[in-house]
Amino acid sequence: MLVSAKEMLDKAREGKYSVGQFNINNLEWTKAILLTAQENKSPVILGVSEGAGKYMGGYKAVVGMVNGMLEGLGITVPVALHLDHGSYEGALECIDAGFSSVMFDGSHYDIDENIAKTSELVRICDSKGISIEAEVGSIGGEEDGVVGTGEVADPNECKAIADLGVTMLAAGIGNIHGQYPDNWAGLDFDVLAKIKELTGDMPLVLHGGTGISEEMIQKAISLGVCKINVNTECQWAFAEATRKYIEEGKDKVGKGFDPRKLLAPGTEAIKVTVKEKMELFGSINKA
Ligand code: 13P
Repeated sequence: MLVSAKEMLDKAREGKYSVGQFNINNLEWTKAILLTAQENKSPVILGVSEGAGKYMGGYKAVVGMVNGMLEGLGITVPVALHLDHGSYEGALECIDAGFSSVMFDGSHYDIDENIAKTSELVRICDSKGISIEAEVGSIGGEEDGVVGTGEVADPNECKAIADLGVTMLAAGIGNIHGQYPDNWAGLDFDVLAKIKELTGDMPLVLHGGTGISEEMIQKAISLGVCKINVNTECQWAFAEATRKYIEEGKDKVGKGFDPRKLLAPGTEAIKVTVKEKMELFGSINKA
């Protein structure tokens, strides 16, 4: 059964580790992430962007697939199904479809509108036992058409949003989605520390987990980050393993063209990446 992300994040904050959010794109992604979580006794959050939801045939199709796999694969670790960077309407649709967690990304609105829309969704999510993530200060880079300029959040605005009763808060601290440029200045830990000071026990979320150094990840966790999002790194791993299989001509040997064979190396590569991240985030054996 899907669970809200609240309990797993509260435990992560107390235990000083982070739960990984791994974005899903299809059946192989979902299966790879769920099996890795189960094998390593780790809680996990499956992230679904609006674009990925559409690609997979709509939010109800996603809910059906994930719930079916929890049962069919015998998954017993805590799993939250979470909308990633949702619009207000997208969040309502996911709540209706059976997601156990949503993110409302109101970072592109002015703060008053972000507060108004976030509070309305907090009220709805609370009544249904669904966890909710809000965002202040847009995350840089592009993810599925959601483009952010890479702002550093205003800690006072973070406090205003945290006070609305959200479950977790994503704050821009110089992080971006996708590849970091060579001249990237790194995470702004002074701002993160200030946000932590003002928001107290609020679990903080770090987006753009791909390509952040181990040292920076550990420091971020020590400053209150309880959830770290990873997407691009799994995509790179999948693409590389699939390319290798085809370049080696394996699809032309026997039944190597069967999708269950063709997609197997990529699926295994996602499992390796997810396990590495779970080790780094400290969530193994925490389920
Ligand atoms: P990356 O694609 O950079 O890992 O970021 C993922 C993310 O933050 C999803 O919201």
